[in-house]
Amino acid sequence: MATKRQSVHGQWSSRWAFVLAATGSAVGLGNIWKFPYIAGENGGGAFVLVYLVCICLIGVPIMMAEIMLGRRGRQNPVMTMETLAKEEGRSTHWRLLGLMGVLAGFFILSYYSVIAGWALSYIFQSASGAFVGSSAETVGKIFGDLVSTPETLLLWHTLFMVMTMLVVARGVRSGLEKAVTWLMPGLFLILVLLVGYAMAEGSFAEGVNFLFSADFSKLNWGSVLIAMGHAFFTLSLGMGAIMIYGSYLPEKVSIAKTSFMVAAADTTVALLAGLAIFPIVFVNDLAPGSGPGLVFQTLPIAFGQMPGGLIVGTLFFVMLVFAAWSSSISLIEPAVTWLVEKKTMTRGKACVVSGIATWLLGIVTVLSFNKWSFEFTFAGHKKTEGLFDMLDILTANIMLPLGGLLIAIFAGWQMAKTSSIDELGMESTDLSYRMWRFLVRYVTPVAVIIIMLKAIGIL
Ligand code: TRP
Repeated sequence: MATKRQSVHGQWSSRWAFVLAATGSAVGLGNIWKFPYIAGENGGGAFVLVYLVCICLIGVPIMMAEIMLGRRGRQNPVMTMETLAKEEGRSTHWRLLGLMGVLAGFFILSYYSVIAGWALSYIFQSASGAFVGSSAETVGKIFGDLVSTPETLLLWHTLFMVMTMLVVARGVRSGLEKAVTWLMPGLFLILVLLVGYAMAEGSFAEGVNFLFSADFSKLNWGSVLIAMGHAFFTLSLGMGAIMIYGSYLPEKVSIAKTSFMVAAADTTVALLAGLAIFPIVFVNDLAPGSGPGLVFQTLPIAFGQMPGGLIVGTLFFVMLVFAAWSSSISLIEPAVTWLVEKKTMTRGKACVVSGIATWLLGIVTVLSFNKWSFEFTFAGHKKTEGLFDMLDILTANIMLPLGGLLIAIFAGWQMAKTSSIDELGMESTDLSYRMWRFLVRYVTPVAVIIIMLKAIGIL
């Protein structure tokens, strides 16, 4: 009977709606803002290779596991884990995994929204012609002025949080699903356009070389941890976002196929973003490892020089906001559903409560770039944005891999084989099932544990 449960929040209208929503969650600031700058900071090629291996061997199997748990539990991550653990005769402490997820989503959104606010403000900068004909210096000043003014950052952060909560408040079909069906296609078009520009006008060969020629001497275990953490981050794994999206997935849809599609789409966008950005970075003699400002300080220079740059630049930041928007809704959806189901709030009230809490925590990030900024070193890189950098490291490099590890252990070791076969809709003799189970039971947990221990220097 377990598979007949229904979510009180409804269902996606089709499997395409799910693929779009999950891709919308996956494709975000992680692909366009974060991936290029961490690839830059970690030396490029070798880092990209580790990231790709992590997507295939860790990301895809965990995505399948997470969707599977969500669809079987059909509730918020906390209660899904509790229900499934009971059904499998395991400790109900597994609910803590769901709780850690809700918390991680809340932490991530608090800083995600501030960065999305940068993109929002850049729509207006670009549209007003601030970048036209500008040098690296002027663009640098625009960025510097933005991040050094807490009031301005707070304003854009507030606006983005309101946008996010408005969608979430409207629910699964008329909120989340409607938003992603028109946000995603546009984003892809613009990216292709930008890659075209980079090919024509940038140092394209240098960009390709930087992204794809592996120099392992630049790689340490810290960078490997960052690559793995980013695989989790970019696929939205390890905290229940994909689990809650899975809880709205109709029966009979193939979890394996949809997972592959989402991972492939996400990876394509990240690589395209790299191919759009690095050629422009190199042709302007800028440093690829310049940190979180990379996209905000380099692309505008190109927009300022190219014909029609005002329109393309404005569109780019519109699309960046779209990408962030379709991701942010998935970051808070686990918390909202938890408040609705556990605390019996209405969806509207749950949105207000979680939105305000996230907004408040966001102030920490707002101040990290100015009043509260301090330096520390992580994985050999100097970090200058104190608590923002720490929140990012805590979530992406600790909470998400830990969450993913526990999801793999639950799906591979705690759940009966018959349950996973049933929910994945596979046969125990299928090669794909046996591969999935092997990856989830052995490869993923061992890889996550080794990488984490190596990175903190215990192994
Ligand atoms: N994947 C998104 C990005 O790359 C961010 C994101 C959305 C996320 N939901 C998530 C990250 C859940 C971790 C967990 O921008």
